[in-house]
Amino acid sequence: MTMTQKTILITGSTDGIGLETAKALVTAGHIIILHGRNVEKLKRVEMQLSALGNVKSYASDLSDLHAVTAMTENIKRDVKQIDVLINNAGVFKTSSPVMSSGLDMRFVVNVFAPFILTQRLLPVISKSGRVINLSSAAQAPVSEAALKGETTLSDSAAYAQSKLAITMWSNHMAHKLSGQPTFIAVNPGSLLGTNMVKDAYGMAGKDINIGVKALTYLALDPDVDNHNGEYFDNDRGHFGEPHTDALDLEKCKDVTDEIEKVASELTAP
Ligand SMILES: NC(=O)c1ccc[n+]([C@@H]2O[C@H](COP(=O)([O-])OP(=O)(O)OC[C@H]3O[C@@H](n4cnc5c(N)ncnc54)[C@H](OP(=O)(O)O)[C@@H]3O)[C@@H](O)[C@H]2O)c1
Repeated sequence: MTMTQKTILITGSTDGIGLETAKALVTAGHIIILHGRNVEKLKRVEMQLSALGNVKSYASDLSDLHAVTAMTENIKRDVKQIDVLINNAGVFKTSSPVMSSGLDMRFVVNVFAPFILTQRLLPVISKSGRVINLSSAAQAPVSEAALKGETTLSDSAAYAQSKLAITMWSNHMAHKLSGQPTFIAVNPGSLLGTNMVKDAYGMAGKDINIGVKALTYLALDPDVDNHNGEYFDNDRGHFGEPHTDALDLEKCKDVTDEIEKVASELTAP
């Protein structure tokens, strides 16, 4: 069987699950658009992966939403079609969680940035393509006040709320766009041995390849188109139920409306 070459953008592909997924997909013959916040680290990864196949790279700190919008313009200038967008970059613990805007960095990096990135790239994302949004087993009801930066949260609460928010937004978009492209939220597997897990829990964690296998399947397998809007729970190894809020389309729309409101204020010229 011949392989159809896909163009796949993976945010946060300088480390952890994103980096290992990029390696697996470029080795399989796909064109990989790498992304990272640290220009030098990104260039090192680009050099390393270009020995394996076709890669290019774009830098932006996802906590700076103006940098995110500028990056999307650069990508659209260079790339005619993206088949798969994997919104993988994420943050759990950070030394200064409350940003100068008053917003929690977990909401900015894990929710607002992928929201803006996806909205702005939609014109070049293939209608038969996919958007894979990294969720987590940690999901907690989204507080509107916390989303807007009006109250502060613990690290784990902010992370879990951000992950339910992206899961809800994912389901909303899946229905709004009727699967063109397909939207999937995924828990790549809990406690995989990345920097995030080492920093948050002080443990080595499980084999990262557990997550790589799930993301590769979601990026490439034709059957995934039959699961538009669903949540892939890799702790179980199959599609499963997210937090009940992410199954309530009205709640999903309300949270997405809030995300959109804050995101457009933050990116206003
Ligand atoms: N590991 C797990 O067990 C687990 C479980 C559930 C969900 N997840 C999710 O899986 C995704 C990948 O996490 P991981 O475990 O692979 O974490 P990781 O090893 O810490 O990698 C995170 C990636 O995101 C990038 N990143 C972080 N903050 C950024 C920012 N402000 N701007 C741009 N890029 C930024 C990092 O860049 P640098 O290379 O510069 O650090 C890195 O490339 C996350 O969304 C996470 O929430 C992970």
